[in-house]
Amino acid sequence: MFPIVRPRRIRNNEVMRRMVRETSLSTDDFVYPMFIVEGTGVRKEISSMPTCFQESIDKAVENAREIHSLGIPAVILFGIPDHKDAEGTEAYNDDGIIQRAVRAIKEAVPELYVITDVCLCEFTDHGHCGIVSDGEVLNDPTILLLAREAVSHAKAGADMVAPSDMMDGRVTAIREGLDEEGYTDTPIMSYAAKYASAFYGPFREAAESTPQFGDRRSYQMDPANRREAMKEVALDIDEGADIVMVKPALSYLDIISDVREQFDVPVAAYNVSGEFSLVKAAASMGWVDEERIMMEILTSIKRAGADIILTYHAKDAARALGG
Ligand code: PBG
Repeated sequence: MFPIVRPRRIRNNEVMRRMVRETSLSTDDFVYPMFIVEGTGVRKEISSMPTCFQESIDKAVENAREIHSLGIPAVILFGIPDHKDAEGTEAYNDDGIIQRAVRAIKEAVPELYVITDVCLCEFTDHGHCGIVSDGEVLNDPTILLLAREAVSHAKAGADMVAPSDMMDGRVTAIREGLDEEGYTDTPIMSYAAKYASAFYGPFREAAESTPQFGDRRSYQMDPANRREAMKEVALDIDEGADIVMVKPALSYLDIISDVREQFDVPVAAYNVSGEFSLVKAAASMGWVDEERIMMEILTSIKRAGADIILTYHAKDAARALGG
């Protein structure tokens, strides 16, 4: 009449809970995103993303030292250039904002792994992730520019490139571009299943990359689609992606889990700006316990199957983990 099997037996003591815990979060899992702007001495907090800043290169270098000292292995860089144009030329200028930032950070903190986001949206005046003609975002001319951008990042010393544009065939174009220039050992982490999401709202303020007309639904995925993500991931792996990413993370844990099940490459998940801002906003109202919510969210992303988590919480989480 009373239970023989009592799952609570292994739950009632913290030592035992530690021993049977299935998922453990580590500072090694994190990548911290940074937003780089022109100038010197600039460190401007992003209003919708408290604790995150737009930083000039000198300040970013200081921040990189702190990130490294917290034990976080990697950063991903986003650049906001002063000059934007229709072709996003600053994206593949060898002396552009990202290229200079990569050189400065690698020189100051060589052990910190520097990933660059490869996309045009921060560099185009229309804010789209590619070349626009008659209101359409063109695929094939765009991937040629993305390849040039990736090569330019590698030349500056980027350890890995991460295309986030969602054009077809861009991994092939980037891989060929890198290989032709001798960067055969530079890995590609592709934003393989990237959804057209409202969760990117705060990022677009941070990166000043809001599309000036229309939206990104002709290239980013429909949030309603699950099977299509497997097609996108399979294509990117075939084209040579070394690591595949699902983005956003929290509303897409099923996708992370499917990718983990079906493919044997490392899986990254991007815990995006809107997911971060919701936590910050609720915590500032005193409605949730920020640290516990943060750790629970990050644990859930890891539990779903992510090996790597890109997150604005990385510094706080590293501190919470005792890093
Ligand atoms: C650029 C890019 C975006 C994000 C990462 N790379 C924005 C977008 O696609 O509109 C979003 C990151 C975030 O919200 O934290 N293509």
